[in-house]
Amino acid sequence: MTARGVSSPLRARNFGPGPAYLPTEVLERLASDLLDYQGSGLGVAEISHRGPLFAPVREALEDRLRRLLALPARYAILWMHGGATPHFGLIPLNLGRRRGRADYVVSGHWSACAYEEARRLLPEARVAARASKPPVAVPPTASWSLDPEADYVYYTDNESVDGIEFPGAPRVARPLVADMTANFLSRPIEIGPHALVYAGAQKNLGLTGLGVVVVDRELLPEDLPGVPRTDVYAAHLAERSMLNTPNTVAWYTAALMLEWIEHAGGLEALAVRNRRKADRLYAVLDGSGGFYLNEVSPAYRSRMNVPFQLADPALLPVFLREAAAAGLHQLEGHRSRGGLRASLYNAQPEEAVADLARFLEEFRRRHG
Ligand SMILES: Cc1ncc(COP(=O)(O)O)c(C=O)c1O
Repeated sequence: MTARGVSSPLRARNFGPGPAYLPTEVLERLASDLLDYQGSGLGVAEISHRGPLFAPVREALEDRLRRLLALPARYAILWMHGGATPHFGLIPLNLGRRRGRADYVVSGHWSACAYEEARRLLPEARVAARASKPPVAVPPTASWSLDPEADYVYYTDNESVDGIEFPGAPRVARPLVADMTANFLSRPIEIGPHALVYAGAQKNLGLTGLGVVVVDRELLPEDLPGVPRTDVYAAHLAERSMLNTPNTVAWYTAALMLEWIEHAGGLEALAVRNRRKADRLYAVLDGSGGFYLNEVSPAYRSRMNVPFQLADPALLPVFLREAAAAGLHQLEGHRSRGGLRASLYNAQPEEAVADLARFLEEFRRRHG
């Protein structure tokens, strides 16, 4: 697969937060393989997940992700149904059994959801730190109120609703768990400090409804009595993620996305490109003389999701209408926050970000 980068004229500029823009070459390959996979006359959605045609897909998923993450052998990879949200409950169930205690860093929407779920399941789920009011930042790790007895410490590496991203993995004494749904594989990942990292696939790995878990296998209890096997990480590990029929098309798309990432130069190269795209957009917002507002402190600004407000909220429908007319789509902010948001995952072409930057400047000139 070649990384063509520039999308075909048919493809609109798409800044959606997920389900998100996918590389044209991945979609073209998928479209063709849905009809005829490797000359078999069978579509990739129509072959047995345990048969010889599909076996290399499963191997490629494992091998490519291990290679990209330079994953030590003690970590296992699980591919599971249901995207990211099931893990809000599965993490307390699987990792919180020893003491029933866990610490949460609540830095935005998704970590708040994960914390609320943990509170339903554990006797002692606590908030160890919260993001500050604007300018929004995560307090330094040394100031977190950490429980030395916690089964794990949980954080959300990139808050896709609020546009807050950790600059790097925090260092804590207890097992560290990260939701990386919205920035997985967008830069090199320091896996070593983590006990478990998970992500929904719909940003940088393809289709919705697939979740990937990278976990230190030593930490998984063998079985959890009274818990359905589909909720037990160790059961997925034992069955090599085929406890039941996987979503084979989502797996195949993830394998194509991993190949695309390798062709794009790997995580270091993507990190440079992603930084450049985000810098371009933040520069326009910061240089707008207050016409556009982003409340996140620069050190914690997300490279993946750039939420911003118009100083005059009455201009919002005009902005969205004119943006769509200019071919720039899915820029609405999250329903809980309003305003605007541009998502810049791996596949987002630099040309699209340049188009958006030009539109932002021109819109300000006309309406400022
Ligand atoms: C950081 C983060 N966590 C969790 C989720 C929830 O993902 P899902 O809809 O796959 O459950 C999202 C979705 O946008 C997200 O960005």
